[in-house]
Amino acid sequence: MSAYRDLLEKLRSAPRKWLVTGAAGFIGSNLVEALLLNGQTVSGLDNFSSGYEKNIDLALAAAKDAAKDFRFIRGDIRDAAVCREACAGVDFVLHQAALGSVPRSLDDPATSNASNVDGFLNVLLAARDAGVKNFVYASSSSIYGDETTLPNVEERIGRALSPYAVSKHVNELYAGVFAEAYGFRSIGLRYFNVFGQRQDPFGAYPTVIPLWFAALLRGGTVYINGDGETSRDFCFIDNCVQANILAACCSDPGALDQVYNISYGQQTTLNELFALIREEVTEQAPAAATVRPVYRDFRPGDVRHTRADIGKAQRLLGYAPEFDIRAGLRKAGVWYAANCA
Ligand SMILES: NC(=O)c1ccc[n+]([C@@H]2O[C@H](COP(=O)([O-])OP(=O)(O)OC[C@H]3O[C@@H](n4cnc5c(N)ncnc54)[C@H](O)[C@@H]3O)[C@@H](O)[C@H]2O)c1
Repeated sequence: MSAYRDLLEKLRSAPRKWLVTGAAGFIGSNLVEALLLNGQTVSGLDNFSSGYEKNIDLALAAAKDAAKDFRFIRGDIRDAAVCREACAGVDFVLHQAALGSVPRSLDDPATSNASNVDGFLNVLLAARDAGVKNFVYASSSSIYGDETTLPNVEERIGRALSPYAVSKHVNELYAGVFAEAYGFRSIGLRYFNVFGQRQDPFGAYPTVIPLWFAALLRGGTVYINGDGETSRDFCFIDNCVQANILAACCSDPGALDQVYNISYGQQTTLNELFALIREEVTEQAPAAATVRPVYRDFRPGDVRHTRADIGKAQRLLGYAPEFDIRAGLRKAGVWYAANCA
């Protein structure tokens, strides 16, 4: 049995209280669903700035009877009092609330900073003061910036290329200082392009996989920024959920107060990604088979290539991602066909 399955069994027999910030978002709502399905008591906090009530409704519907173990707090992490209320009595915090997107942060750095840095500090302080057992937070592969050596290893980062990357780096620095100065335990997860059910194709700053699924299902145009040889290590949401739960329950002092790459460890170019998504969509919408992408300029602030070395998370957290890109796109494709066609 994998460390993860073993852990879920233990959690089911001794439920804990969890706070998921950003619960109405893509990753947050999937965390809520997984925790409820495994018998946990969960509070969710969100201000709906980029998340949706329907994400919570879908998570609760999937959790069926366990939905009664969920409490939603509508509030903003920029408000310290809201963070204190949300953290009271909680065992574990999974901090996901932030304004994602490199382009959004380039358009409006101050607003991204307010949620991603000031808001982060409010949640971190509230979690410390409430005595939570472990604080897990979403960092990002954008931290690798202009570092070109692959695979990306945790201790070697480059210069930041966007305000978003700066904000995630500051999160890691604060978490490190809280460990040093106050002995407060945390784990940072550097997510690499997470994708899957409920990721929004229609928001102001959509990411590539939901955007292309929706475009191909609806007969729209697929744009590729640059030559299509930009590559990413795409991480299916279930792998990301696994990492969060393993990290929260980690008690090994050698594994705490660290950051970990979270992905699959597989590099896919945008050209390859387009072909894979088109293959999935063609099963639902045969007309997609002949669609060709339209190439346009590179996007400022984007890292050229990422590929995670996930060895540290495997060794210290017992992380064992179950979905590679093909398996993840298959599951995501079914969801987009049912929800976005
Ligand atoms: N999706 C990815 O590929 C990816 C990659 C790296 C890091 N991350 C990080 O993972 C986390 C979750 O990302 P996601 O993809 O689910 O994004 P998302 O936009 O779907 O979810 C973020 C949620 O946080 C909420 N939020 C934002 N600011 C808030 C505030 N001030 N107060 C309360 N709630 C607030 C939003 O309303 C939204 O529901 C973020 O921290 C993001 O930076 C995501």
